[in-house]
Amino acid sequence: MTALSIAQRDNGEGSRTHLYETIANDLRETGYSINVGALPQDLAKSLWQYVQAMSNQAFDPAGIGREQDHMLNHFVRSDEICWITGETEPCRQWLQWSTDLQAYLNRRLLLGLFSFESHFAHYAPGDFYKKHMDAFKGQANRMLSLVVYLNPGWRPDDGGELVLYTGEEGDASIRVTPGFGTVVAFLSEEFPHEVLPAARDRYSIAGWFRVNTSHSGRVDPPR
Ligand code: OGA
Ligand code: MN
Repeated sequence: MTALSIAQRDNGEGSRTHLYETIANDLRETGYSINVGALPQDLAKSLWQYVQAMSNQAFDPAGIGREQDHMLNHFVRSDEICWITGETEPCRQWLQWSTDLQAYLNRRLLLGLFSFESHFAHYAPGDFYKKHMDAFKGQANRMLSLVVYLNPGWRPDDGGELVLYTGEEGDASIRVTPGFGTVVAFLSEEFPHEVLPAARDRYSIAGWFRVNTSHSGRVDPPR
């Protein structure tokens, strides 16, 4: 566990750009960025209210892999997800915030991020997502992973940490508490990670920025 780049950050209006800048700097230096409680308060609050009000039926069991080989594997992950399409105001604001981040990172780091896809995730008590990668080298699809947490009052013994494996040999790791408004970004091809079981319901949004893998005039579908 390192304290590197884990800091409570100012959350007032005008701190958006500061957060984008911190994420850009962290990504350039280490390939990941962890920002405790950093999502703008109004956005975090409205997303939390939205996810609370969502019917459980809106969530589907999460699958693994691209849609062609979409399959359920409860040994790997047991959470439920709901894709974000931006039809409601909180989701529209979320997509705006992510698109602004995308533009900022493209300008600062020339990442060439082209599209963004994201979903709400609900982990019931005991749910988990075993160690995995979000993308594989050479496939040039998901380039940057983004996760934000919507869990007010999360306590250390509630569990449900994100474990990010940062060491060359896979031995060094960082545990992230899924506390309210915490924003995590990491290069999708670089860091294996997992979600540990939690003692209470755990809500998050997971998203991925992709590069354009269009060919023969066919526009790459976002997912
Ligand atoms: C994922 C994922 C991490 C988290 O959905 O691919 O790794 O902490 N989520 O929810
Ligand atoms: Mn993942």
